[in-house]
Amino acid sequence: MDSDPRTVRVGDREILRVGLGGARWSITDPEDDGPAERLLELAIEAGVTYLDTARAYTTRDGEAHNERLLRRVLDRIGAWDDVLVGTKGGHYRADDSFPIDASPASLRRDCERSLGALGRDRIDLYYLHFPDPQVPFAESVGALAELRSEGLVGEVGLCNVTTAQFREALGIVPVAAVQNRMSPYAPVDTPLLALAAERGASFFAYSPLGGTTPPVGADELSPAALDAARERGVTTQTVLLAWLLGHGDHVAVVTGARRPTTLRASLRAVDLGLTVAEHDAIAADLAERW
Ligand SMILES: NC(=O)c1ccc[n+]([C@@H]2O[C@H](COP(=O)([O-])OP(=O)(O)OC[C@H]3O[C@@H](n4cnc5c(N)ncnc54)[C@H](OP(=O)(O)O)[C@@H]3O)[C@@H](O)[C@H]2O)c1
Repeated sequence: MDSDPRTVRVGDREILRVGLGGARWSITDPEDDGPAERLLELAIEAGVTYLDTARAYTTRDGEAHNERLLRRVLDRIGAWDDVLVGTKGGHYRADDSFPIDASPASLRRDCERSLGALGRDRIDLYYLHFPDPQVPFAESVGALAELRSEGLVGEVGLCNVTTAQFREALGIVPVAAVQNRMSPYAPVDTPLLALAAERGASFFAYSPLGGTTPPVGADELSPAALDAARERGVTTQTVLLAWLLGHGDHVAVVTGARRPTTLRASLRAVDLGLTVAEHDAIAADLAERW
């Protein structure tokens, strides 16, 4: 159990249950980083303490665009101690494709690159971005375990894993966080969430609102979510994020908000506290669509 209902635990750190991911600040090849930098500052001022990045979040021509952007802002406002940065290796950008390469040698190189780009001597949380079908999973995880034992990485995380892969990894290294896609648009992976809770790992739901092109708008998903939003004077998206958080004290969401308005709306989910009846009614509506 987490002591503070607004936070989840990663290692010995408590972080707000709405984190911010910057993939779109980079993979969209922006001409101007100003809006992203301002949003990041605003997010930190507003209490965001988890920042999600990756080697793969970069521009077509740039190396480590997103990690370098984070570093610039965190250096400028002196906020390194206020946030936990999670970055990822084993996946990269090559022009417009995003290959996976999670061999132990590549993961070590990626980790060293990320340390350099972030300007740190230890990465707070380092994830395997994707299991690599060409590399035995245990070898990729073993590489992360080595990086952790050498102190280059504080905590180990896994992205895009099955419950079986998560269980296998737990036999090799303590896993502080699992980050998979989870949104109101698809069934919740209950066994994976349960295993994370049982083993003291936090679960980060990425693309929690279905990303930039969800199949239908949030307002069309669930009459119960619409009602809850009207009653509380918040947006349906806020209610849906609160519904995701309602799946366990160890669940956090990684929002991809790029505007102050949507970021603030997402942050309201932390304190919304849906009732059990509301939660169940939304689940019933969504299940009809899955
Ligand atoms: N581990 C992985 O493999 C993996 C994969 C994908 C993503 N991720 C992480 O997850 C992060 C988020 O992913 P995502 O961008 O797909 O997530 P998302 O938050 O589901 O989608 C972003 C879209 O939702 C909108 N939005 C966000 N919050 C909103 C709100 N409260 N109300 C209305 N609209 C809202 C954004 O609008 P505005 O832009 O207008 O604000 C944007 O169009 C990424 O940056 C990355 O860090 C990880």
